Amino acid sequence: MKNSVRGKWALITGATSGFGRATAERLASEGCNVIITGRRKEKLEAVYHILQEKFQIKVLSYCFDVRELNKCVEMANDLAEREIVPDILINNAGLASGKNKIYEGLIGDWEKMIDTNIKGLLYITRSILPMMVARNEGHVINIGSAAGHLVYPEGNVYNATKFAVKALNEAINLDLVGTNIRCCSIDPGAAETEFSKVRFHGDEEKAKKVYEGYEPLIAEDIADMILYVLNTPLHVNITTMVVYPTAQRSVYVMDRKKD
Ligand SMILES: NC(=O)c1ccc[n+]([C@@H]2O[C@H](COP(=O)([O-])OP(=O)(O)OC[C@H]3O[C@@H](n4cnc5c(N)ncnc54)[C@H](OP(=O)(O)O)[C@@H]3O)[C@@H](O)[C@H]2O)c1
Repeated sequence: MKNSVRGKWALITGATSGFGRATAERLASEGCNVIITGRRKEKLEAVYHILQEKFQIKVLSYCFDVRELNKCVEMANDLAEREIVPDILINNAGLASGKNKIYEGLIGDWEKMIDTNIKGLLYITRSILPMMVARNEGHVINIGSAAGHLVYPEGNVYNATKFAVKALNEAINLDLVGTNIRCCSIDPGAAETEFSKVRFHGDEEKAKKVYEGYEPLIAEDIADMILYVLNTPLHVNITTMVVYPTAQRSVYVMDRKKD
């Protein structure tokens, strides 16, 4: 397949770990310039240096929380001043926080997920998409989830935020009709990243158990899927891609071996 990303600019939110970081490296390895974001300054700087040292590309980094609208706008303004219009926007920053029955859920967890997964994605999209529309060029990749297709027990609010991402992905596509801009939601099943550690508030033991007895997806698998979608010809718009590990066929069906 043709390399369509060389020399382009990709903005990847949440590039300090997991899918975002792997995608930044994968795109950089194909000659794509990258703009990386995240809240953890040291991790962001580390990724920045790796990208600069390993690949002959341009890298920009912005350390901020996607829940802060003014920071999202500041980044967009700074890019505009540099005369950079992202060709690719990867709305990846997101999290699950907690896993409880809805009547026991922590309000703080709910707010964090709603504000990051829905409002943060909207703030970034609202800040960047007008530049793409003005140029009539671009590709938006939203990282949804299998959890945005089926609700699982104790997933409640996380599921709701990913159902929202699915709806927004459809909405973005509808509102872009008549433009050349494409939009795809990549919706993974179980993938071993920092996701479960974050979900269980730093409890590594609990996080490890999520991936026991089967081979989960890894971040690089999703980076490969993103690159595949980006490299399709301009008349092809993959709107949704659901990706499970082979051992998992639905959020309910996991072939977990016991030893
Ligand atoms: N792993 C899975 O099983 C799985 C499955 C389906 C979908 N997903 C989705 O995939 C996306 C990436 O998750 P991952 O699995 O790669 O987990 P991860 O390793 O925890 O990465 C999450 C990334 O999002 C960033 N982030 C989180 N909250 C943020 C905020 N408020 N502002 C800015 N950046 C923020 C984190 O950076 P900082 O902490 O430095 O800010 C980090 O770079 C998420 O949207 C997640 O819901 C994951």
